Amino acid sequence: MKSLILEGFMGCGKSSIAEQLSKELNCPLYDTDALIEKDENRSINEIFESSGEEYFRDLETKMLEKLMQQDGFCVISLGGGMPVREENRKLLRKLGTVVYIKAPAELLFKRLENEREKRPMLEGHELRQRIDELLRLREEAYLKAADFTMGLREEMTVKDAALCIRKACGI
Ligand code: S3P
Repeated sequence: MKSLILEGFMGCGKSSIAEQLSKELNCPLYDTDALIEKDENRSINEIFESSGEEYFRDLETKMLEKLMQQDGFCVISLGGGMPVREENRKLLRKLGTVVYIKAPAELLFKRLENEREKRPMLEGHELRQRIDELLRLREEAYLKAADFTMGLREEMTVKDAALCIRKACGI
């Protein structure tokens, strides 16, 4: 396997599960949001506010192209909107095995209620409606990009989720 890539909606736990997997598998971890913030030297919120969503989406594509250059097995955690662009899905296919962490809307709602200020895509919307709307718009892209889908349940810990992914991928 080239790399292990986690995709899924905001709040599904991609970053923490990716961190756990990189510890267990003893390999580098790349979080596209964190890498973009570091390169730009500003937060995702600031990027959206001053440069707009399209600019951020271009940065995401460039980040995937950059990750293509690195050698060796790694775990990659994607921003929630990354698989929407077809161009990105093509790059993801070349980059490694993609796991979709699929969480129920109700669970996402509970988790995002206290974290929405860090997420410009949720700003100015009624939260539950916005989650449903974005899920509806994105589900097909998530499924198209994924090699495996892992159904996340509320009672699952980060370790449970990591184990489930390792089993599905045989690693
Ligand atoms: C986004 C998700 C965020 C971040 C940006 C846009 C989205 O990442 O990339 O705010 O469009 O779903 P997380 O999924 O890590 O919150």
